[in-house]
Amino acid sequence: MKKIVLIANWKMHHSQLSAQQYFTDFFSALEGISWEEAVQVGFAVPYTLLGLVRQTLQNKPARVLAQNVHHLDQGAFTGEISLAMLADLGIRATLIGHSERRQYFAENLETVNLKTKAALRAGFSPVLCIGESLSERQESKTKEVIERQLRSALNDISDHSNLIIAYEPIWAIGTGLAASPHQAQEVHQQIRALLASNYGTMHASRISLLYGGSVTPANLSSFLAQPDIDGALVGGASLQGESFAAMVKVARKSRKEQLS
Ligand code: PGA
Repeated sequence: MKKIVLIANWKMHHSQLSAQQYFTDFFSALEGISWEEAVQVGFAVPYTLLGLVRQTLQNKPARVLAQNVHHLDQGAFTGEISLAMLADLGIRATLIGHSERRQYFAENLETVNLKTKAALRAGFSPVLCIGESLSERQESKTKEVIERQLRSALNDISDHSNLIIAYEPIWAIGTGLAASPHQAQEVHQQIRALLASNYGTMHASRISLLYGGSVTPANLSSFLAQPDIDGALVGGASLQGESFAAMVKVARKSRKEQLS
Protein backbone atom coordinates (compact mmCIF):
# COMPACT_ATOMS: atom_id res chain seq x y z
CA MET A 1 0.00 0.00 0.00
CA LYS A 2 1.31 3.47 -0.92
CA LYS A 3 1.98 5.93 1.86
CA ILE A 4 -0.38 8.88 2.11
CA VAL A 5 1.41 11.89 0.62
CA LEU A 6 1.04 15.28 2.31
CA ILE A 7 2.82 18.25 0.77
CA ALA A 8 2.92 21.69 2.32
CA ASN A 9 2.99 24.50 -0.24
CA TRP A 10 4.39 27.54 1.54
CA LYS A 11 4.04 29.74 -1.57
CA MET A 12 5.72 33.12 -0.87
CA HIS A 13 5.76 32.82 2.92
CA HIS A 14 8.29 32.40 5.75
CA SER A 15 11.74 33.68 6.63
CA GLN A 16 14.86 31.89 7.86
CA LEU A 17 13.73 32.55 11.42
CA SER A 18 10.08 31.60 11.07
CA ALA A 19 11.01 28.47 9.11
CA GLN A 20 13.17 27.28 12.00
CA GLN A 21 10.37 27.93 14.48
CA TYR A 22 8.00 26.11 12.12
CA PHE A 23 9.97 22.88 12.25
CA THR A 24 10.41 23.09 16.02
CA ASP A 25 6.61 23.32 16.32
CA PHE A 26 5.99 20.66 13.66
CA PHE A 27 8.27 18.03 15.15
CA SER A 28 7.35 18.70 18.76
CA ALA A 29 3.66 18.27 17.88
CA LEU A 30 4.53 14.85 16.43
CA GLU A 31 6.86 13.71 19.16
CA GLY A 32 6.32 10.11 20.21
CA ILE A 33 3.96 9.43 17.31
CA SER A 34 5.15 6.99 14.69
CA TRP A 35 3.76 8.50 11.51
CA GLU A 36 6.62 7.82 9.10
CA GLU A 37 5.32 4.40 8.07
CA ALA A 38 1.98 5.78 7.01
CA VAL A 39 2.65 9.27 5.70
CA GLN A 40 5.18 10.72 3.29
CA VAL A 41 5.63 14.39 4.07
CA GLY A 42 7.07 17.11 1.84
CA PHE A 43 7.60 20.87 2.05
CA ALA A 44 7.54 23.01 -1.09
CA VAL A 45 9.34 26.14 0.08
CA PRO A 46 10.60 29.36 -1.53
CA TYR A 47 14.00 29.13 -3.24
CA THR A 48 15.62 31.22 -0.49
CA LEU A 49 14.69 28.61 2.11
CA LEU A 50 15.62 25.45 0.22
CA GLY A 51 19.12 25.23 1.71
CA LEU A 52 18.03 25.85 5.26
CA VAL A 53 15.04 23.50 5.10
CA ARG A 54 17.08 20.77 3.48
CA GLN A 55 19.62 21.05 6.27
CA THR A 56 16.94 21.09 8.96
CA LEU A 57 15.31 17.97 7.51
CA GLN A 58 18.54 16.10 6.86
CA ASN A 59 17.90 13.20 9.20
CA LYS A 60 14.12 13.44 9.14
CA PRO A 61 11.65 11.42 7.10
CA ALA A 62 10.53 14.44 5.08
CA ARG A 63 11.30 15.79 1.62
CA VAL A 64 12.01 19.28 0.38
CA LEU A 65 10.53 20.50 -2.89
CA ALA A 66 10.97 23.60 -5.00
CA GLN A 67 7.82 25.36 -6.15
CA ASN A 68 8.94 25.85 -9.74
CA VAL A 69 11.86 25.13 -12.04
CA HIS A 70 13.16 25.98 -15.51
CA HIS A 71 13.41 23.10 -17.96
CA LEU A 72 16.90 23.95 -19.26
CA ASP A 73 20.12 23.33 -17.35
CA GLN A 74 21.62 26.79 -17.80
CA GLY A 75 21.49 29.88 -19.96
CA ALA A 76 20.51 33.54 -20.21
CA PHE A 77 17.27 33.31 -18.25
CA THR A 78 17.43 36.02 -15.62
CA GLY A 79 15.58 35.10 -12.46
CA GLU A 80 15.19 31.42 -13.27
CA ILE A 81 16.48 28.32 -11.46
CA SER A 82 17.34 25.06 -13.21
CA LEU A 83 16.94 21.42 -12.25
CA ALA A 84 20.72 21.14 -12.14
CA MET A 85 20.88 23.99 -9.62
CA LEU A 86 18.27 22.32 -7.45
CA ALA A 87 20.11 19.00 -7.68
CA ASP A 88 23.26 20.85 -6.65
CA LEU A 89 21.46 21.74 -3.41
CA GLY A 90 20.33 18.15 -2.95
CA ILE A 91 16.75 18.86 -4.01
CA ARG A 92 15.09 16.16 -6.12
CA ALA A 93 11.46 17.23 -6.26
CA THR A 94 9.43 20.22 -7.40
CA LEU A 95 5.90 21.44 -7.99
CA ILE A 96 5.18 22.04 -11.68
CA GLY A 97 2.39 24.04 -13.28
CA HIS A 98 0.71 25.29 -10.13
CA SER A 99 -2.32 27.32 -11.19
CA GLU A 100 -0.77 30.48 -9.72
CA ARG A 101 2.19 29.98 -12.08
CA ARG A 102 -0.20 29.50 -14.99
CA GLN A 103 -2.37 32.49 -13.97
CA TYR A 104 0.25 35.08 -13.04
CA PHE A 105 3.44 33.94 -14.76
CA ALA A 106 2.20 32.86 -18.16
CA GLU A 107 2.98 29.18 -17.83
CA ASN A 108 1.06 27.23 -20.43
CA LEU A 109 0.48 23.69 -21.63
CA GLU A 110 3.75 23.70 -23.52
CA THR A 111 6.00 24.99 -20.72
CA VAL A 112 4.36 22.61 -18.24
CA ASN A 113 5.11 19.72 -20.59
CA LEU A 114 8.74 20.82 -21.04
CA LYS A 115 9.22 21.13 -17.29
CA THR A 116 7.56 17.80 -16.49
CA LYS A 117 9.60 16.03 -19.13
CA ALA A 118 12.88 17.58 -18.03
CA ALA A 119 12.17 16.87 -14.36
CA LEU A 120 11.42 13.19 -14.96
CA ARG A 121 14.44 12.86 -17.22
CA ALA A 122 16.63 14.33 -14.46
CA GLY A 123 15.29 11.79 -11.96
CA PHE A 124 13.20 14.36 -10.11
CA SER A 125 9.82 13.75 -8.59
CA PRO A 126 7.55 16.35 -10.21
CA VAL A 127 4.24 17.20 -8.58
CA LEU A 128 2.23 18.13 -11.64
CA CYS A 129 -0.66 20.45 -10.74
CA ILE A 130 -3.81 20.56 -12.85
CA GLY A 131 -7.30 21.95 -12.31
CA GLU A 132 -10.17 23.85 -13.82
CA SER A 133 -11.35 27.42 -13.20
CA LEU A 134 -14.74 28.28 -11.75
CA SER A 135 -16.17 29.28 -15.13
CA GLU A 136 -14.91 26.07 -16.71
CA ARG A 137 -16.68 24.06 -14.00
CA GLN A 138 -19.85 26.11 -14.34
CA GLU A 139 -19.81 25.47 -18.08
CA SER A 140 -19.41 21.71 -17.43
CA LYS A 141 -15.97 21.72 -19.02
CA THR A 142 -14.08 20.17 -16.10
CA LYS A 143 -13.54 16.79 -17.76
CA GLU A 144 -12.38 18.32 -20.98
CA VAL A 145 -9.96 20.73 -19.24
CA ILE A 146 -8.48 18.00 -17.06
CA GLU A 147 -7.98 15.71 -20.01
CA ARG A 148 -6.32 18.47 -22.05
CA GLN A 149 -4.01 19.53 -19.21
CA LEU A 150 -3.03 15.98 -18.34
CA ARG A 151 -2.50 14.73 -21.88
CA SER A 152 -0.41 17.71 -22.88
CA ALA A 153 1.67 17.67 -19.68
CA LEU A 154 2.47 13.99 -20.21
CA ASN A 155 2.96 14.22 -23.94
CA ASP A 156 6.07 12.34 -25.03
CA ILE A 157 6.73 10.94 -21.54
CA SER A 158 7.20 7.23 -21.13
CA ASP A 159 9.08 7.02 -17.85
CA HIS A 160 6.67 8.36 -15.31
CA SER A 161 8.27 6.79 -12.22
CA ASN A 162 8.31 9.41 -9.44
CA LEU A 163 5.44 11.35 -11.00
CA ILE A 164 2.87 12.75 -8.58
CA ILE A 165 -0.26 14.55 -9.75
CA ALA A 166 -2.19 17.15 -7.78
CA TYR A 167 -5.74 17.98 -8.76
CA GLU A 168 -6.40 21.52 -7.60
CA PRO A 169 -9.61 23.18 -8.77
CA ILE A 170 -8.68 26.86 -9.03
CA TRP A 171 -11.95 27.95 -7.40
CA ALA A 172 -11.05 25.96 -4.28
CA ILE A 173 -7.54 27.35 -3.79
CA GLY A 174 -7.27 29.76 -0.89
CA THR A 175 -11.02 30.36 -0.85
CA GLY A 176 -12.07 28.19 2.07
CA LEU A 177 -14.45 26.55 -0.41
CA ALA A 178 -13.00 23.09 -0.84
CA ALA A 179 -14.41 20.77 -3.47
CA SER A 180 -16.69 18.16 -1.96
CA PRO A 181 -14.99 14.77 -1.52
CA HIS A 182 -17.36 13.46 -4.17
CA GLN A 183 -16.41 16.19 -6.68
CA ALA A 184 -12.73 15.55 -6.02
CA GLN A 185 -13.09 11.77 -6.30
CA GLU A 186 -14.91 12.14 -9.62
CA VAL A 187 -11.95 13.99 -11.15
CA HIS A 188 -9.37 11.74 -9.50
CA GLN A 189 -11.12 8.73 -10.97
CA GLN A 190 -10.96 10.36 -14.40
CA ILE A 191 -7.24 11.11 -13.93
CA ARG A 192 -6.57 7.52 -12.86
CA ALA A 193 -8.39 6.21 -15.92
CA LEU A 194 -6.42 8.52 -18.24
CA LEU A 195 -3.17 7.37 -16.64
CA ALA A 196 -4.24 3.75 -17.04
CA SER A 197 -4.88 4.31 -20.73
CA ASN A 198 -1.35 5.74 -21.08
CA TYR A 199 0.65 3.50 -18.80
CA GLY A 200 -1.54 0.52 -17.90
CA THR A 201 -3.68 -0.07 -14.82
CA MET A 202 -0.92 -1.32 -12.56
CA HIS A 203 1.38 1.63 -13.20
CA ALA A 204 -1.52 4.08 -12.92
CA SER A 205 -2.40 2.69 -9.51
CA ARG A 206 1.13 3.40 -8.28
CA ILE A 207 1.00 7.12 -9.10
CA SER A 208 -0.03 9.21 -6.11
CA LEU A 209 -2.92 11.56 -6.83
CA LEU A 210 -3.26 14.46 -4.40
CA TYR A 211 -6.22 16.75 -3.89
CA GLY A 212 -5.51 20.44 -3.22
CA GLY A 213 -7.74 23.42 -2.51
CA SER A 214 -8.71 24.57 1.00
CA VAL A 215 -7.71 21.33 2.67
CA THR A 216 -7.70 21.65 6.47
CA PRO A 217 -7.13 19.36 9.44
CA ALA A 218 -10.94 19.20 9.69
CA ASN A 219 -11.75 18.09 6.14
CA LEU A 220 -8.64 16.06 5.26
CA SER A 221 -10.02 12.68 6.36
CA SER A 222 -13.07 13.02 4.11
CA PHE A 223 -10.77 13.35 1.10
CA LEU A 224 -8.50 10.51 2.19
CA ALA A 225 -11.56 8.25 2.48
CA GLN A 226 -12.01 8.44 -1.31
CA PRO A 227 -10.62 5.50 -3.30
CA ASP A 228 -8.53 7.56 -5.75
CA ILE A 229 -7.26 10.26 -3.39
CA ASP A 230 -3.80 9.37 -2.10
CA GLY A 231 -2.95 12.57 -0.27
CA ALA A 232 -3.14 16.35 -0.29
CA LEU A 233 -1.30 19.45 -1.41
CA VAL A 234 -1.93 22.05 1.26
CA GLY A 235 -1.41 25.81 1.11
CA GLY A 236 -2.89 28.01 3.85
CA ALA A 237 -3.36 25.26 6.45
CA SER A 238 0.28 24.20 6.07
CA LEU A 239 1.77 27.54 7.05
CA GLN A 240 1.82 26.82 10.78
CA GLY A 241 3.86 23.86 12.01
CA GLU A 242 1.15 22.71 14.46
CA SER A 243 -1.57 22.83 11.86
CA PHE A 244 0.39 20.78 9.33
CA ALA A 245 1.38 18.34 12.08
CA ALA A 246 -2.33 17.96 12.89
CA MET A 247 -2.84 16.91 9.26
CA VAL A 248 -0.08 14.32 9.55
CA LYS A 249 -1.93 12.90 12.56
CA VAL A 250 -5.22 12.81 10.64
CA ALA A 251 -3.51 11.04 7.72
CA ARG A 252 -1.93 8.48 10.02
CA LYS A 253 -5.31 7.79 11.64
CA SER A 254 -7.00 7.42 8.23
CA ARG A 255 -4.39 4.92 7.15
CA LYS A 256 -4.81 2.94 10.38
CA GLU A 257 -8.57 2.81 9.84
CA GLN A 258 -8.11 1.70 6.24
CA LEU A 259 -5.89 -1.13 7.40
CA SER A 260 -8.15 -2.35 10.20
P1 PGA B 1 -4.86 26.25 -0.22
O1 PGA B 1 -3.79 26.18 -1.40
O2 PGA B 1 -4.70 25.01 0.60
O3 PGA B 1 -4.52 27.51 0.53
O4 PGA B 1 -6.22 26.32 -0.86
C1 PGA B 1 -3.51 24.98 -2.06
C2 PGA B 1 -2.48 25.19 -3.14
O5 PGA B 1 -2.52 26.23 -3.81
O6 PGA B 1 -1.59 24.34 -3.34
